[in-house]
Amino acid sequence: PLPDAVTIYEVGPRDGLQNEKAVVPVAVKAEMITRLLDAGLPVIEATSFVHPKWVPQLADAAELMGVLVDRIGDAARRMPVLVPNERGLDRALDLGLEHIAVFGSATETFAQKNLNRSYDEQFTMFEPTFARAKEAGMTVRGYLSMCFGDPWEGSVEVDAVVRAGVRLLELGADQLSLGDTIGVATAGHVQAMVAAFADAGVGTDRLAMHFHDTYGQALANTLAAMQVGITTFDASAGGLGGCPYAKSATGNLATEDLLWMLQGLGIGTGVDLDAVVATSVFMADALGKAPASAVARALSGQ
Ligand code: HMG
Ligand code: MG
Repeated sequence: PLPDAVTIYEVGPRDGLQNEKAVVPVAVKAEMITRLLDAGLPVIEATSFVHPKWVPQLADAAELMGVLVDRIGDAARRMPVLVPNERGLDRALDLGLEHIAVFGSATETFAQKNLNRSYDEQFTMFEPTFARAKEAGMTVRGYLSMCFGDPWEGSVEVDAVVRAGVRLLELGADQLSLGDTIGVATAGHVQAMVAAFADAGVGTDRLAMHFHDTYGQALANTLAAMQVGITTFDASAGGLGGCPYAKSATGNLATEDLLWMLQGLGIGTGVDLDAVVATSVFMADALGKAPASAVARALSGQ
C-alpha cells in the first residue's frame, strides 16, 4: 500500500546552490525561497552554516537568513539550515533559528573529505552540537551520506549504515535522512536498507530518503521506499544540486519530477506543481542554463 500523503523536504536552496559554479546573489536566493514557500513546500532547507571557504556559494548564509527574517519573520526562523559543528550552531542561534541539520558520513573517506574529520571524530564533533541545540529547544535532523555507495570506497554495507545512523539517532537526531549522495541506489537496495533499520528498532516514521538522480533511479527508489512505509522525501527544485566534496555527485531528485509522480498516484503533498516549475525556470534563467528536470522542461517548453 502507498501512503495517502508525503512530506517533501525541499533542499534546492542548500544542496542545489552549494554545487553551482556561480555564486547566486542574496536577492535571487531570497526570491527562490519565498517562491518555494508560496508554492506550499512545508519544509525548505535554506542554507548552510559551514566554513565559508569550504562552500563559498553559501558564505552569505547569515545575510540571507537576515533578509528572510525581515521579509517573512517566523516562517524564515522555521527553515532548517545545515550545521556541522558548534561554530555553525552559534551562527544559527544568533539568528534565532529553530531547526538545524547535522551531516555525517557512513564511510571513513567521505568523513575526511567533507568534514576534515575521521569517521569517529565526526561523532565527537557532533556530540556537543546536538547537546547544545537540544538544550536550546531546536530540532536536529541527522543526515547520513554515502548510504548506498561511496565513490572512493565502493559498496557500503547496509549494517555499517545502520550503525552510523543509530549513532546519530542516539545523539538526539529527530529524523534521519539517508543520503544516496552519488545516486547509485536501486530499488531493492532501498527496501533492504529500510528493513535493516526496522530490525535495529528504527521505524519508518524516523527516516527520510535523500536521493540524487545521477543514475536516473531516484523516482524508482522513491516508489520503492513508499511501498515500505517511508513518507518523507528530500528533493530539489529544478533538480539542482550535488556535493562539491563528493566526486560524481549530480543533482537531487527534482521536486517537480517527484510531484508529477505523486500527483499521478493521488498522493497528497500540499504543493503547487506549476508554482514549483515556475521557480525552477526562474532559477535556471538566473543561472543561465536550461532546467535539469524533465518535468520542468516538458511543462515550460524549454
Ligand atoms: P576545519 O578546517 O577542520 O575547521 O573544517 P576547524 O574546526 O579546524 O576550524 C578552523 C577555523 O574555521 C576556525 O577559525 C573556526 O572558527 C572556523 P579560526 O579559529 O582558525 O579563525 N570554522 C567555521 N567558521 C564558520 N562556520 C563554521 C565553522 N567551523 C569552523 N561552521 C568543517 C571543518 C566541518 C568546518 C569543514 O570541513 C566544513 O565546513 N565542511 C562543510 C562541507 C560541506 O558543506 N559539504 C556539503 C554539505 S554535505 C552534503 O551535501 C550531503 C547531503 O546533501 C546528504 C547527501 O547527499 O549525502 C547533506
Ligand atoms: Mg545531497
